[in-house]
Amino acid sequence: MIGANIAPGLLRRFDAEEWGWIDSTLWKKAWNEARAKQCSIPFLIEASDRDEEVLTTANHNAKKAGVASLIHIRSSDIKNFGSNQKQGIVICNPPYGERLGDIKAAERLYKMMGETFPKRARWSYFVLSPHPEFEKWFGRQSNKHRKIYNGKIKCFFHSFF
Ligand SMILES: C[S@@+](CC[C@H](N)C(=O)[O-])C[C@H]1O[C@@H](n2cnc3c(N)ncnc32)[C@H](O)[C@@H]1O
Repeated sequence: MIGANIAPGLLRRFDAEEWGWIDSTLWKKAWNEARAKQCSIPFLIEASDRDEEVLTTANHNAKKAGVASLIHIRSSDIKNFGSNQKQGIVICNPPYGERLGDIKAAERLYKMMGETFPKRARWSYFVLSPHPEFEKWFGRQSNKHRKIYNGKIKCFFHSFF
């Protein structure tokens, strides 16, 4: 929405629209102004997951937010990640692996991500993970990391650029 300059709240209604002492034409004027400021985005947004159910939810949410036409959502395993673009930004929230067996699988996935993601200069990566040794498995030291809670789970938002 930021990329396409879509005003927050453009798709919702407001109780104040019913307040008689606000000239109703002002609402229309504000909506028209906001719609006129929407623009196309000069880059490609791709979203992927290997779970069809997650993709259905993502499609639903993108439609609800009015951005479905701006995002290419597709089914893909991260091991097939590849791009010939000179520049790219990857933002991801890979599995956390809550049980011991799952943790091992998550660690293998982090390692594979580190090996698969392009290592070109104008590519950057932003990864949310609660794993205390994410960087070790990913194979790179983050340039920055910020502590952040995903619900009750303490995570780090790692930036690699
Ligand atoms: C922590 S959830 C994040 C879900 C969602 N992207 C979000 O941020 O709310 C991790 C997601 O990684 C997906 N996933 C796990 N292994 C994957 C793989 N090898 N390739 C692609 N997606 C994978 C799962 O299907 C799951 O949806």
